[in-house]
Amino acid sequence: MSKTKEYSNGEVTIVWKPNLCIHSTNCIKGLPEVFDMNKRPWINADGSTSDKIINQVRKCPSGALSFYMNTKKQKGEQNMSNVKVDLMENGPILVNGKIELKNSKGEAIPCENTVALCRCGGSKNKPFCDGTHNTNGFKE
Ligand code: SF4
Ligand code: FES
Repeated sequence: MSKTKEYSNGEVTIVWKPNLCIHSTNCIKGLPEVFDMNKRPWINADGSTSDKIINQVRKCPSGALSFYMNTKKQKGEQNMSNVKVDLMENGPILVNGKIELKNSKGEAIPCENTVALCRCGGSKNKPFCDGTHNTNGFKE
């Protein structure tokens, strides 16, 4: 099953689900003080302000990063009634909004409010994208 790790600065907790990462590197480029692949652990929740962390986490296209406020113990993910679907150029289908995802047998697949679904056929974590489209020459 999917792994989950959490990193907190006492105010906000960053939730990291590596299986959902599509390696867009948005987080690393956008807030390198917090997200740095060359460091262990690679997420340093004390590296910036809670506001900047929340802002950056919301830009994660795959749902691999999410957060909750420690005080409210509530998921800080978007609560959208509308579902938005975008095709990423040469990459996955990005779905944003609350959806029910089922496999071919009609069984529910747990998912976040933001998911990236494989469009190239190469992911080893289907139906989710795992970043393989970056290396298998998928163009569309
Ligand atoms: S998918 Fe999310 S967690 Fe993965 S690199 Fe991109 S922004 Fe970071
Ligand atoms: S679209 Fe990303 S692995 Fe297939």
